[in-house]
Amino acid sequence: MKIIYAKDYESMSRNAANIISAQVIINPKSVLGLATGSSPLGVYKQLIDWYNKGDIDFSSAYSVNLDEYVGLDSSSDQSYAYFMEQNFFKYINFQKDHTFVPNGKNLDAQNECARYNKIISDLGGIDLQLLGIGHNGHIGFNEPGAAFEKETHQIQLAPDTIEANARFFEKSEDVPQKAYTMGIKNIMNAKKILVIASGLAKADILYEAVFGAIRPSVPATILQLHNDVTIVADADALSTIIAKVPNAIERLPK
Ligand code: GLP
Repeated sequence: MKIIYAKDYESMSRNAANIISAQVIINPKSVLGLATGSSPLGVYKQLIDWYNKGDIDFSSAYSVNLDEYVGLDSSSDQSYAYFMEQNFFKYINFQKDHTFVPNGKNLDAQNECARYNKIISDLGGIDLQLLGIGHNGHIGFNEPGAAFEKETHQIQLAPDTIEANARFFEKSEDVPQKAYTMGIKNIMNAKKILVIASGLAKADILYEAVFGAIRPSVPATILQLHNDVTIVADADALSTIIAKVPNAIERLPK
C-alpha cells in the first residue's frame, strides 16, 4: 500500500483528484468507481475545477457508484444518486447513460443486485475505485462482519453507521435501515483502489485498516491484500500511523 501524506483536507482532495485525473487522461474510457460521503466532496470540486479549465474530459468515461439506500432514488435529496448529481455529475460531461448508481427504488434485492453486478462486468470491471472509510472500518456499505466474497448485495446498516449518517437527515429515524452496496469482491476486483481519509476521527480506523489483522470485523483490512492501493490522507487522519509507524508514509514533511 502506498500512503500519501497531505497536510489538510484541501491538499488530500487535490492529490486524490490528481490520481483520478491521470487515470482518465491515460485511458479516457476508464470505468471509475465512485463514492459518497463528506470525504470525496473536495475531490469532486477539484475535478470540476479542472474540467472547467479544459484539463479533463469525462465524455468517454464511465462511473459506477458503490452504494445506495434502499427505498430512495434520485428524486430524494438524501439518496446517493441525488448526491452524485448535485455534487459532481451536473457540473461535468459524463454521458448520462455512462453513470450508474444502484436503484434504491427496485425493492427486489436479488434482481437489483444481479442487475448491478452485470453492469459492472459488462463494463469490463472497475479501473479505479475511490473509497472513503467508515468509522467502523466499513467500505461502501460493507459493514463489520461482511463476507469478503460477496458481490453487490443488500445490507442492514449498523447502528453506528446510521448514527454517523444521520447528519444528512432531519433525524436518525429517517435514515433508511437498508442499502445496496457493491460487495468486497467487486471492490477488490478493481484494478486500482484509491482510499481517502480526513480528520482525527479516522486516525485509529485508518491505522487498523493498514496494519490490523485482516478480518471481516474490520472490512477495510481486506485492502491489504490488493496489489494496487493508494491511500491519500490528511495529517489528522494519519496521526495514529505517524505515531506508530512513521516509515510507512511517503513524502512525510520534515
Ligand atoms: C458512508 C458511505 C461510505 C463512506 C462512509 C464515510 O457510509 N456509504 O461509502 O465511505 O460513509 O463517509 P465520510 O466520508 O462522510 O466520513
